Amino acid sequence: MSSGTGLFVTFEGGEGAGKSTQIRRLAEALRARGHEVLLTREPGGSPGAEAVRHVLLSGAAEAFGTRMEAILFAAARNDHVEAVIRPALLQSKIVLCDRFMDSSRVYQGVTGNLEADFIETLQRIAVNGVVPDCTLILDIPARLGLERVKKRSAATASGPDRFEKDELEIHEKRREAYLDIAAREPERCHVVNATQDEEAIAAEILAIVNQLLAPVAAAKMPEAAHE
Ligand code: TYD
Repeated sequence: MSSGTGLFVTFEGGEGAGKSTQIRRLAEALRARGHEVLLTREPGGSPGAEAVRHVLLSGAAEAFGTRMEAILFAAARNDHVEAVIRPALLQSKIVLCDRFMDSSRVYQGVTGNLEADFIETLQRIAVNGVVPDCTLILDIPARLGLERVKKRSAATASGPDRFEKDELEIHEKRREAYLDIAAREPERCHVVNATQDEEAIAAEILAIVNQLLAPVAAAKMPEAAHE
């Protein structure tokens, strides 16, 4: 494990991929099996990070440039890690986080055109050793994801946020960037086809996480008595 004895799982993907629905479903399924689960999200998840969230998503920081936004995301992430995620992992909880460091690599790094070195250094400082054990990348064609977001925005009468309003081409680039990360880090990342129906996606995700939990459960079993 990357930190403590818990399990750290992150959900990633483009807009409208269904991360929030699936992360909730996974949390419910794990709790029903008796696991202690902490469900959190970024940007935000701790009081310090929530204070920065509005600045980022309203677009208030946009005028100051992508570098500034990337540093703010990293500052929020570091607060979230130290105040919430690391303590939960040390208490052996399963931490499920809606977006984490790969969002910065993709949104600020690739489509924000920041140098790889800059973004990687920032992430190293932000996560401070707390790297996900498993990252589920919900993959969906950008056009389809954006249609879902539009429907959601119409239903809630909320407009698109700072990043949702980008061009389709940028969203496609993000999709590719996630797939590149998955190809580079196959041990950590699992790509899930998010065009499947909700039940099928939930079952696939649960199967992946169950496999990770099997060794944890085995390690916690009392040793069999020897005859
Ligand atoms: P939010 O409304 O929380 O959620 P969703 O994950 O459903 O889109 O929006 C978060 C937005 O912030 C999203 O457009 C991605 C963006 N983002 C970054 O650009 N960099 C980051 O490091 C993080 C965590 C998010």
